[in-house]
Amino acid sequence: MMESRPATILNRSQLDGMTALTLLGIETSCDETAAAVVRRHADGRVEVLSSVIYSQIDAHAPYGGVVPEIAARAHVEAIDGIVGRAMTDAGIGYDDLSGLAATAGPGLVGGVMVGLSFGKAVALARNLPLIAVNHLEGHAVSARLASDIPYPFLLLLVSGGHCQLLSVEGVGACIRLGTTIDDAAGEAFDKIAKSLGLPYPGGPALETLAEGGDASAFALPRALLGRAGCDFSFSGLKTAAARQALTLTDETDRRNLAACVQTAIARQLTDRTDRAMLAYALDHTDIDRRFVVAGGVAANRLVRSRLEATASHNGFSFSAPPLIYCTDNAAMIALAGAERLALGLTDGLDAPARPRWPLDPRAAAANPSHPAGRKGAKA
Ligand code: KG4
Ligand code: ZN
Repeated sequence: MMESRPATILNRSQLDGMTALTLLGIETSCDETAAAVVRRHADGRVEVLSSVIYSQIDAHAPYGGVVPEIAARAHVEAIDGIVGRAMTDAGIGYDDLSGLAATAGPGLVGGVMVGLSFGKAVALARNLPLIAVNHLEGHAVSARLASDIPYPFLLLLVSGGHCQLLSVEGVGACIRLGTTIDDAAGEAFDKIAKSLGLPYPGGPALETLAEGGDASAFALPRALLGRAGCDFSFSGLKTAAARQALTLTDETDRRNLAACVQTAIARQLTDRTDRAMLAYALDHTDIDRRFVVAGGVAANRLVRSRLEATASHNGFSFSAPPLIYCTDNAAMIALAGAERLALGLTDGLDAPARPRWPLDPRAAAANPSHPAGRKGAKA
């Protein structure tokens, strides 16, 4: 079982008098090297002073997916320049920072180690508090970068590595309502796109191909639809779509299959979210009916609009981060760090890089369908 994070409480006098917290955030858990400076005012207002994202897509494209060793090496080469650029764009010096937030997992551990070690070095050299941020907690607060969304809220976190429904009760306090029992939705988009001959990352490419396609042209599996619980499954859809892709003869067929896949993924996401809204509503008041979708797949227009309709149907408000904060970025890491720092939560310089790090460790430990090892959901 995952042990709890080593947190220390800052001396209150160190926090008193800070009207705003300014954090440098670093993100290196997958194939983006990112750094950002975010200021969080005492009244909760958030300003993104800079956000720099270097995508390694070109380095991984020939392999059709992210190669961990290439990613780690590329992070090492880029991190110095990206952090320097974020500081220059923000127009501040290191003395103006209140703390340093770096992603400490979950993700490709070679890359996580690069950003976390860099963050530790800056924290040590500049005598700044370090906040070791859970990447998923970053996605959870990403919509708060652009709009005021109070806790608690229901979150659908849907990205390349994760597909989870969480009741987010406060800073770092999440209750998992459902998760994928096999692939994440973004992974399904990427792998099906690959079988359609589309480049990596497949999600945006498949969305473009699906435009004007007939979403009823092919029958695809409707996994878990209407079933109890809020878990997801995409592996059946992935296999069926890959088989179907082999039979296609022309461009219209390809467009139609892309439209069917996108609709099937959106349908499963809305069906499970619908159930989660019922469960969430049981122990929350009407005023707390807020729904947030975050993660790379939240950039998909069909997914967004279908979820918006589901939210409205169940009396929930709907929020999603601006597109630039849907996919991986460091502004969300800086904000998650600022929220922790405001509560006096910091980490030691021995904070570990974690390949797996569930947001709700109790649910992850209790659910044997998500084992550790090479198979199963990452967190
Ligand atoms: O959040 P993210 O940048 O990284 C992870 O933490 O996984 O998400 C990347 C995922 C990829 O699988 C990508 O294909 C998917 O988000 N994605 C999309 C779209 N934009 C990104 N999927 C569907 N439609 C999109 N427009
Ligand atoms: Zn992510």
